[in-house]
Amino acid sequence: MGRPGALTVDRGPPDVALRAARNDDVALVRSWRNDPDAVRFSTSRRPVSELDHGRWFSAALVDPRVRLWVAEERGIPVGQVRLNLDGDAGVLSIAVAPAARGRGVGQQMLRIALAEIERDHLVAIVTAVTHPDNSASMRAFERVGFRRRGRSADGFIVFELRLG
Ligand SMILES: CC(C)(COP(=O)(O)OP(=O)(O)OC[C@H]1O[C@@H](n2cnc3c(N)ncnc32)[C@H](O)[C@@H]1OP(=O)(O)O)[C@@H](O)C(=O)NCCC(=O)NCCS
Repeated sequence: MGRPGALTVDRGPPDVALRAARNDDVALVRSWRNDPDAVRFSTSRRPVSELDHGRWFSAALVDPRVRLWVAEERGIPVGQVRLNLDGDAGVLSIAVAPAARGRGVGQQMLRIALAEIERDHLVAIVTAVTHPDNSASMRAFERVGFRRRGRSADGFIVFELRLG
């Protein structure tokens, strides 16, 4: 309960939708990948060059083991979600545009991606790996049901969610 007389506005979850990534998203997805926080918390800790990113992106779009989605909030691109499939398991990763962070967009993107993964029976086990200082990422994965499963060899926190 808020203070008497206080104005409480419940905006609900952000109005986010996922669509399949397409060729013309290449620069946008690189800009999110190369944002300073995303670089700091990445496993390589380096930005990716335009050439390397372009090659990786074109290959990812046609790779049956990769699902790449772009999230839009009322038509404006706000982030990307990627699922790397490996048999019955998949690794989920996420990036939100810097200007859209801290409003629940990341959590909502994860919820929608997980619903699609479940609906299409893509995998039964989803994992995610986050830098131990990446509080926002750890919190977002935990809020949608992931549990900590341990650490990777390079000290990242491994999260897991079993579907269905
Ligand atoms: C990690 C990231 C995807 C989170 O997306 P987001 O839209 O900002 O996150 P949300 O607004 O959904 O917040 C998720 C939770 O983290 C908390 N949070 C948000 N920003 C935070 C911050 N800077 N520090 C600590 N907690 C934070 C939120 O309060 C929320 O928890 P709550 O529901 O208990 O309040 C986004 O910050 C990002 O793209 N970072 C750079 C790339 C990256 O690190 N990707 C993850 C690699 S797997």
